[in-house]
Amino acid sequence: MNDIITKIKELKREKNAVILAHCYQNAEIDEVADFVGDSLYLSQQAAKTDASIIVFAGVFFMAQTAKMLNPTKKVLLPRKESGCLMADMINLDQLREFKSKHPNIPTVCYINSTAEVKTECDICCTSSNALKIVKSLNEKEILFVPDNYLGKWVESKLDNVKITTYNGFCPTHLKIKPEDIIHAKEKYPQAKVLAHPECSQEVTKLADYVGSTTGIMKYTIENPAKQFIIATEKGVVDRLKRDYPEKEFILVKPDIICQNMKWHTLEDIYNSLKYEQYEIDVDKDTIQKGVRCIERMLEVSA
Ligand code: 13P
Ligand code: SF4
Repeated sequence: MNDIITKIKELKREKNAVILAHCYQNAEIDEVADFVGDSLYLSQQAAKTDASIIVFAGVFFMAQTAKMLNPTKKVLLPRKESGCLMADMINLDQLREFKSKHPNIPTVCYINSTAEVKTECDICCTSSNALKIVKSLNEKEILFVPDNYLGKWVESKLDNVKITTYNGFCPTHLKIKPEDIIHAKEKYPQAKVLAHPECSQEVTKLADYVGSTTGIMKYTIENPAKQFIIATEKGVVDRLKRDYPEKEFILVKPDIICQNMKWHTLEDIYNSLKYEQYEIDVDKDTIQKGVRCIERMLEVSA
């Protein structure tokens, strides 16, 4: 283990590479990562890096976003099969059809979407800034793709904004049912409940806090409570248990795992750096049309 970590660090130096890792990754990846965090934090890091190579330990849309922000740099995804099931629920034709049913309404896309989808949306958002982004538009009505649940959660937090959502969803977060929260609360009555906004509204309504992966982590660190029921992917709980052994973190149920986030191993990262694989390619036209929607988000979130 130490051997591969040393080799990855050497390759990073040699090739002027940076490793960005999402907090749903296998926790061992943190040993070699330069930045670990949620989608917003990682896209902010991607936007300002001066490394020549970006290795993205995350899913495809995250690496694609990094490439759009860095068209002249090499962006690598260590395992090709790391896609996001939600991002794949809408393509450009489906977006056009959805928009044609609701003409002349600004469209916000969750960053969990393809580069092509971003070319025809006005601004994108992540789970940590969705509310802020929608507010920044100052509109009475917006379209939100692809996540029905994040879109509806944002709508529930705002007065007088109608949000028409596409019917996409995260299969991992939808595994969490309200009864899972209720059972966990029965077992740990003192615990605070924290949920990701990709969960259903029946679940988020039962939470003390709803936020992005790093939002959830920050809450547990800052809150004086000692027990927390976590309704998001297992990677968040693994990191919290490792870093804060004095507190208790309970994954709401055992199988809340995004398999696509878990493909990358340290060996894959090593091979990715050594053989410079698998390179993300986004055509110039798509970058030109799609990057504005990401940049607008970064400007609003700065
Ligand atoms: P974050 O915005 O919290 O990183 O979430 C990304 C994601 O894919 C959650 O499923
Ligand atoms: Fe996509 Fe859900 Fe996995 Fe996040 S947890 S990457 S939304 S499939």
